[in-house]
Amino acid sequence: MKFNTDVLHSNQVHARLTGSYKPQAMAHVSPIYQTSTYVLEDFDSAVYLNQHVDEGFVYTRFGSPNADELEKKIAHMEHAEAALALASGLGAISTAVMSVVKAGDNVVIGDVIYGCTYALFTKVLSRLDITCTRVDTSNVKAVEEAIKPNTSLVYVETPANPTLKISDIEEISKVVHLHKDITLIVDSTFASPYLQNALDLGADLVVHSATKYLCGHGTVTAGVIAGNKERIDRCRMPYLQCFGAVIDPFAAWQLMQGMKTLGIRMERHCQNAMKVAKFLEGHPMIDRVYYPGLPSHPTYEIAKKQMHNGFGGMMSADIKGGMDAVRTVMNNVKVFSLATSLGNVDSLIQHSPSMSHFDMTPEERHAASIFDGQVRLSIGIEDADDLIEDLDQALNKIKL
Ligand SMILES: Cc1ncc(COP(=O)(O)O)c(C=O)c1O
Repeated sequence: MKFNTDVLHSNQVHARLTGSYKPQAMAHVSPIYQTSTYVLEDFDSAVYLNQHVDEGFVYTRFGSPNADELEKKIAHMEHAEAALALASGLGAISTAVMSVVKAGDNVVIGDVIYGCTYALFTKVLSRLDITCTRVDTSNVKAVEEAIKPNTSLVYVETPANPTLKISDIEEISKVVHLHKDITLIVDSTFASPYLQNALDLGADLVVHSATKYLCGHGTVTAGVIAGNKERIDRCRMPYLQCFGAVIDPFAAWQLMQGMKTLGIRMERHCQNAMKVAKFLEGHPMIDRVYYPGLPSHPTYEIAKKQMHNGFGGMMSADIKGGMDAVRTVMNNVKVFSLATSLGNVDSLIQHSPSMSHFDMTPEERHAASIFDGQVRLSIGIEDADDLIEDLDQALNKIKL
């Protein structure tokens, strides 16, 4: 089956629904199991299930039918043995990372990654005596050279937030897997499984903020991890069990609805983004556009090789006139909403240095090409001409 059929029809049965939990009627859309706990059939099966929580439903922090259905869908779309759904993208990232690292380790991370992920490595893991080496992950040699004897994790975000830097997962995987004890985690949020399958390219775990394209409508916060069963089992027990970043059944249910249109949404996001990127590249008030589908993007060639079906709906742009010009644009857009998320059907605009990446120092931001006059655009599925007109009128209000 091709993507759009597959995303609708794969894994539609509740594989773990047994005994008294079998639905009485075969609802076309699964019901929401909005319950925190489950009635267990008798003492012996209660004892067994409490000790084998992946074989049934006991308590929602250990799993729910809605999370289970979503996990099977994600595993299928990411060509993985298993997946785990969590309460947010950061819940997924911190759970996946903690399942790999231990005190005294070193981690190698990209120099451009989402600000709160950066804070996890620099402000939280540093307290556990875990050192962090930042490198330009679009340069495989730099990754290779950064690996130390105590490195246990290489963490790559591609496309990276907010400069859309693309890193070559396949080549990085070859370098990482020369060392048998190093895990490669890829954050594929900006791509979604429609544009990129990181596990096929050699990643050990792939994570997504499902809040973004997987949901598509800006109605939930959620995250997912996919990989082989052994790694996912470890993420679930003890890390999800103990950290408790569990997905709510209603959020999982909403994600199942959102994912049905992932393919057609992504197709339109990509088409619109390409038109907007080309428009911005020719605009007199724009210094530079960061869109991996433009030949001017420094990692365009890797994007062309790695991403299938298109280059995504995200871009950044440096506006002439710095922060004052950014303020003018932000205060004058009418179709774009000033909001710090992405991947929604409607277009959003935000200022990365002061919003998503304020955890980095100005020096770190500038070294990573995150400049004060930079806006990040999440291009929605509106009519592209309206988006272009909106940006044009806002940019034309700038007074230098
Ligand atoms: C690339 C990337 N990964 C992870 C996250 C965190 O996701 P969440 O906000 O769902 O925790 C974000 C949030 O913007 C992101 O952009």
